[in-house]
Amino acid sequence: MNIIITGGAGFIGSHVVRLFVNKYPQYKIINLDKLTYAGNLANLKDIENKPNYKFVRMDICDFNGVLKLMQDEHVDGIIHLAAESHVDRSIKDPFTFAQTNVMGTLSMLQAAKTAWEGCPNKYEGKRFYHISTDEVYGALQMTHPEGIMPPFTTKASSGKHHLAYGDKFFTEDLKYQPHSPYSAAKASSDHFVRAFHDTYGLPTIVTNCSNNYGPYQFPEKLIPLFINNIRHRKPLPVYGKGENVRDWLYVEDHARAIDLIFHKGVIAETYNIGGFNEWKNIDIIKVLINTVDRLLGRPEGADMDLITYVTDRAGHDMRYAIDSSKLQRELGWEPSLQFEEGIEKTVRWYLDNQEWMDNVTSGDYLKYYEDMYSNR
Ligand code: NAD
Ligand code: TYD
Repeated sequence: MNIIITGGAGFIGSHVVRLFVNKYPQYKIINLDKLTYAGNLANLKDIENKPNYKFVRMDICDFNGVLKLMQDEHVDGIIHLAAESHVDRSIKDPFTFAQTNVMGTLSMLQAAKTAWEGCPNKYEGKRFYHISTDEVYGALQMTHPEGIMPPFTTKASSGKHHLAYGDKFFTEDLKYQPHSPYSAAKASSDHFVRAFHDTYGLPTIVTNCSNNYGPYQFPEKLIPLFINNIRHRKPLPVYGKGENVRDWLYVEDHARAIDLIFHKGVIAETYNIGGFNEWKNIDIIKVLINTVDRLLGRPEGADMDLITYVTDRAGHDMRYAIDSSKLQRELGWEPSLQFEEGIEKTVRWYLDNQEWMDNVTSGDYLKYYEDMYSNR
């Protein structure tokens, strides 16, 4: 297969590109990425010279460019991750989110439709796989603030902490109720993907995943930002009371699910991806402080005083909790990593890769692109 992975220089995309390039030497993997502030080719240093990998700097909104690339490369699969992804940025600049997430997805869909309609076998053997988020479902209530046993246990949630904070979960048939400009734009893009299947028969699949964590995440998101701040003994800005709940999945487990669903998922279906692994923000933050302190040889918990409660995020969704039992039942996917193991691995990675972090926080990685791609 010849596959375009959009957003492959970002956090999750880089893990998906790495997995596909290494696992499928017979495929051609084309990483299509605009290299916004969130794209970083250093995330792919280890595979950039592999013969089955190609990087193309392109905006997904560039319909003509994407169409030409699809025709030139005889692309038969698209895994679409490129998006603006940070809720706080979407609150400040909703237009960019509508442009990239909605118009960009529409441009990808229309290019796929046009390119594949011109093929002798049309849609046969083709796949348009759209990566989305659980945030499109809105917010769940915290009906059990002290925690109850969740209905399922997975490897991810099999540690000491094993709680759900409500009795409702996001299932695939739930009505979309996005609250932030980010989730509204992702919801809109999901609707366009389904509309292209229902109207034109485009072979689409949508998945909605919970919060990811792991190496190469841009340090504006909770986990890498806080690991870096703890290391440098900088304040940890906790929104509101720190009671909001997120459901966390190790990024490589998401990439494995994407691989499985791309190959075995049923066209027109939606699959939720998650590990039944709910945590209150403040509890995760305490785990991060203890882990960073221990790995740096500081007394465990010495940095608890960095916790700084700040004004809450506008429209801050209370609880996300995803029910991924359909994916487990129908395709046999399971997270491979227990959460505490994943956090330990993640903290170690950021501490061991300070140069990567410094390049990102100083903005040096952006200058590198401008030199490298100034002639494009
Ligand atoms: P990210 O912000 O780390 O990376 C986004 C990538 O897309 C970057 O490489 C960026 O350069 C590229 N990009 C942005 N605009 C582009 C454009 N116009 N044209 C081409 N490329 C462009 O994002 P992420 O956290 O890796 O998320 C990837 C996808 O997964 C997104 O669609 C997001 O909605 C979804 N998702 C993320 C999470 C999470 O926890 N991070 C959870 C569920 C779903
Ligand atoms: P984030 O990593 O931005 O992901 P999302 O908003 O997509 O879930 O935030 C995770 C949680 O952490 C969310 O409830 C907001 C909270 N948060 C803070 O309390 N402080 C911060 O500085 C950040 C970035 C997030």
